[in-house]
Amino acid sequence: MTVIKESTATGGSRAVVTARTPAGATPFTTEEIERIRADFPVLSRRVHGDVPLVYLDSSATSQRPRPVLDAERAFLETSYAAVHRGAHALADEATEAFEAARAAVGAFVGVDDDELVWTRNATEGINIVAAGVTDPSGEPTLRPGDEVVVTEMEHHANLLPWQRACARTGARLRWIPVTDDGRLDLAAADDIIGPRTKVLAVVHASNVLGTVNPVALLAARARAVGALTVLDACQSVPHMPVDVHRLGVDLAVFSAHKMLGPNGLGALAGRREVLDALPPLLLGGSIVDEVTMTTATFKKPPARFETGTPAISQTVALHAAVRYLEDLGRDRVAAHEHALTGRMLAGLAGIPGVRVLGPTSADDRIGAVSVVVDGVHPHDVGEVLDAAGIAVRVGHHCAQPVHRRFGVRSSTRASLYLYSTAAEVDAFLDALSGVRRYFGLV
Ligand SMILES: Cc1ncc(COP(=O)(O)O)c(C=O)c1O
Repeated sequence: MTVIKESTATGGSRAVVTARTPAGATPFTTEEIERIRADFPVLSRRVHGDVPLVYLDSSATSQRPRPVLDAERAFLETSYAAVHRGAHALADEATEAFEAARAAVGAFVGVDDDELVWTRNATEGINIVAAGVTDPSGEPTLRPGDEVVVTEMEHHANLLPWQRACARTGARLRWIPVTDDGRLDLAAADDIIGPRTKVLAVVHASNVLGTVNPVALLAARARAVGALTVLDACQSVPHMPVDVHRLGVDLAVFSAHKMLGPNGLGALAGRREVLDALPPLLLGGSIVDEVTMTTATFKKPPARFETGTPAISQTVALHAAVRYLEDLGRDRVAAHEHALTGRMLAGLAGIPGVRVLGPTSADDRIGAVSVVVDGVHPHDVGEVLDAAGIAVRVGHHCAQPVHRRFGVRSSTRASLYLYSTAAEVDAFLDALSGVRRYFGLV
């Protein structure tokens, strides 16, 4: 991270924390960010009468640009039909669009098209894997004495399915602890990942702490002991280049609605032979080769896991979303968010009574920044910010253990995306710095 001088509108200058990503990409210029924002109709909204919206809740769900909205609408107006079924022109067009989206989204995360399974969301993807390893017909199959390793900073989506998998099989759940500065304790990880480890399931970027974990390193260690590696890439795929194979993980999950795409769609992506060894979670139509009254044989992945009528137009929208992200350049998206995260962290450091959960430097960190305001409940913080048009998330963000790790039950999270601006970060800092005064605490 570096500090540079930025001219202010009044002709003065102020210190601004900025940064280059390791790849050397630069943040968006003011003109570029204006053009980007013009693509997102909702960002020009006013709330509570005439207060401009400051949307800092993109880690919960991101907003959608016109090309994504237009692509889905155009598909629905011209080519919508059931996929992989009908013998008519629309069914062919819909199937082609559905599979083209699969190929594009797969390429976006570095896997082949037969290595990307459409799911409802990331949560479903993890459940497919966690249920799969409790099924005796699958490989690997958890047995008593085996260990599943997660981290203390998991979203409940990557914790509860493993709790159940362990309870059902007699395997033991272990976790890599989090240090006081919000990083994984890698020395402990070295001991925890060992010969008994059958599964390592780890979050790439924490939705609470913002920490980006050293996944390649952890995956290499898990591979060396023959464990299956599962990556929760919900908060990384939208914000930085992610290549599943290059990271060395077997499987990864992510959700379309956090990366400019629609809700109701996610993906489970990873090594073909690993998917091929997993049994399906949901049983029913679209996934079978042969069915008798008492038996069924299943198709190869990805079809094996796509039970029932899938989300269809949503895949077309996600295809448009990855095109949009690629056109902007994922390195530049990361650089933009990195610079804004640095600005936010520097500003937060100057507000008395506000504590950041997680790393206080923007390195190896995404722009999901959770804070605790001394003496003020996050719901009250959220209300004060909302009155200023600032949309943040309050609560435990589906990650209670990591809050408990830092001695709190909940927090206030501001999260950035490619359309966020320095002015929005400053608006957040301004409003937050008034919260304790508002409640008579200073
Ligand atoms: C790190 C992480 N994992 C998993 C999820 C679950 O995603 P979804 O609700 O889209 O399945 C989220 C959503 O907030 C998340 O941030």
